Amino acid sequence: MPDIPELDLSGDHLSAILEDEDNPWLTLGIMDRIEDPALLHEWGRMLDLQTRLLGPREVEWLRAKGFGRTGCSIIEPGSGDGHYGSFLARNFPDARIHGLEANDNLVRRFDTDRCPENYAIDICKVGSDPLPAVLSAGFDQCFLRFVLQHVSDPRPLIKAVHDAMPQGGKIYIIEEDHSFFSTEPYWLPYSLATDAWSRVYAAGGSDGAIGRKLPKLVSEAGFEVTDFDVVLRNNVEMGNDFLDLFTQAARVLHHTSPDVLTVEELRNIQDEFRFDQDRHGTSFVATYPQILLCATKR
Ligand SMILES: C[S@@+](CC[C@H](N)C(=O)[O-])C[C@H]1O[C@@H](n2cnc3c(N)ncnc32)[C@H](O)[C@@H]1O
Repeated sequence: MPDIPELDLSGDHLSAILEDEDNPWLTLGIMDRIEDPALLHEWGRMLDLQTRLLGPREVEWLRAKGFGRTGCSIIEPGSGDGHYGSFLARNFPDARIHGLEANDNLVRRFDTDRCPENYAIDICKVGSDPLPAVLSAGFDQCFLRFVLQHVSDPRPLIKAVHDAMPQGGKIYIIEEDHSFFSTEPYWLPYSLATDAWSRVYAAGGSDGAIGRKLPKLVSEAGFEVTDFDVVLRNNVEMGNDFLDLFTQAARVLHHTSPDVLTVEELRNIQDEFRFDQDRHGTSFVATYPQILLCATKR
């Protein structure tokens, strides 16, 4: 595999990127301009699975940290197809949540019929597009889930959110950090899946290790970090849901870069996980690392 050069975002180099219309700062890693129907379908399944399997615990955490109080107006940049935003809106019925999504192919998959009344999505690339008129009265909180890992430079996006917020406004970020992938003892399909995850992210420009960078990123933008948790979800407590999550991730990664994660490798991962169904929880411990951060505008 060829070496992937590290992105130089310093000084003159950053200015050059900012000025180059063909290479804007806001490229979206492996999610950049996705439009292939098969890939959009796999992403749809992934976003649904991540919502169902991870969402309930995330909501508990958010509630404990003051998210979505009565009358609150919340923006959700990177809302994708609105699966998660609809779920959040159902769990926080007294708040109003505004999804903002850069990719219109994903917004078109938004199911308006099953959407709660306190949720809607607008097409908007936050950081470079103006916020939609519906937000002219401002907003109190911002929610970002699995977005920053796909943004080539998250700093302008976080700064744009910071500057548009009132003092005391809160930002909530849920991310991953693949540096915490771990298994004991060695578990073949898990190692194959996590290795493929790293390779496809490196080739596509997404950052799977963004989680531990968050406190520095938001502090530099002018927020004060009030909560930071590293949560290691794992196969023992998640059961076969854990296998489904990693299998679906492998499917997305294959459709993203079939040359980096080949169809043979995908079959191998799927077959090996299938073989371990129902017995893995007593044979292996493996992690899925989530990072949760809450910060307040100073
Ligand atoms: C992995 S999806 C996450 C979807 C959703 N937040 C969830 O947790 O299910 C990330 C999304 O962020 C979008 N995105 C990235 N940067 C954005 C920006 N600056 N403004 C709006 N959308 C953005 C991408 O187009 C992509 O649809």
